[in-house]
Amino acid sequence: MTSEGEAHAKRRPVVTIDGPVAAGKSTVARELARALGFDYVSTGAMYRALALAIRQAGLEDIGGQEFARRLDRLLATVEIAVSGGHVTLNGRIVDSQLSEPGIDELASRLSVLAPVREKMRALQREMALRGGVVMEGRDIGTVVFPEAEFKFYLDAAPRVRAQRRFAQLIASGVKTTLEEVLQRLTERDERDSTRELAPLKPARDAVVIDSSALTVEAVVDRMLALIKSKNFRGS
Ligand code: DC
Repeated sequence: MTSEGEAHAKRRPVVTIDGPVAAGKSTVARELARALGFDYVSTGAMYRALALAIRQAGLEDIGGQEFARRLDRLLATVEIAVSGGHVTLNGRIVDSQLSEPGIDELASRLSVLAPVREKMRALQREMALRGGVVMEGRDIGTVVFPEAEFKFYLDAAPRVRAQRRFAQLIASGVKTTLEEVLQRLTERDERDSTRELAPLKPARDAVVIDSSALTVEAVVDRMLALIKSKNFRGS
């Protein structure tokens, strides 16, 4: 076996979880990572951190040549990292700012742009190369880590997802309605799944789980059972 082959053979697995808005990816990925003794990476949080950087730079009105020039400059210097469960932007923890109004929408609008996707893919591959990671997002099993050992696609009925997101927003003091949440979620899913680059879709070899009628625990148990059936028992 070549030394590269040996390194690959010794590498701990990579688990990917993709899916639409509010399918429960973050909670499930965090729990699964804990059960396996793996790191957990939310790539959505990385796109949101970039959206925050764009907002802070006053570049929210996406479009035009001036925007393209300034975006390139920002992408060349911006530092986004995920470690110990925190997201940092240029060295500062920004977790709480990632759920500010409009950041999800701005992240989705930015995520159609080629230079943004290239930057994110490179960062995310670097994070997962040594294995032992549960990484969740939209294109992790299809584009970022197509060679991952375990791939899941987590889905749920739009109304169920809207209800979950609505409950979270109300609990955090945001005034909104279920219909408004459902409309926003539908629009974002539409953009994320119809974009030209790395659209949201299940990888051909992903296990699709519909969580509409399942608890977080049931979803995690199902994933763990599958991973263990392939003789991997965590670390
Ligand atoms: O998972 P989230 O809702 O925090 O993601 C915010 C946006 O980031 C999402 O609407 C699209 C984009 N995104 C992406 O394009 N690719 C990923 N792997 C993760 C998120």
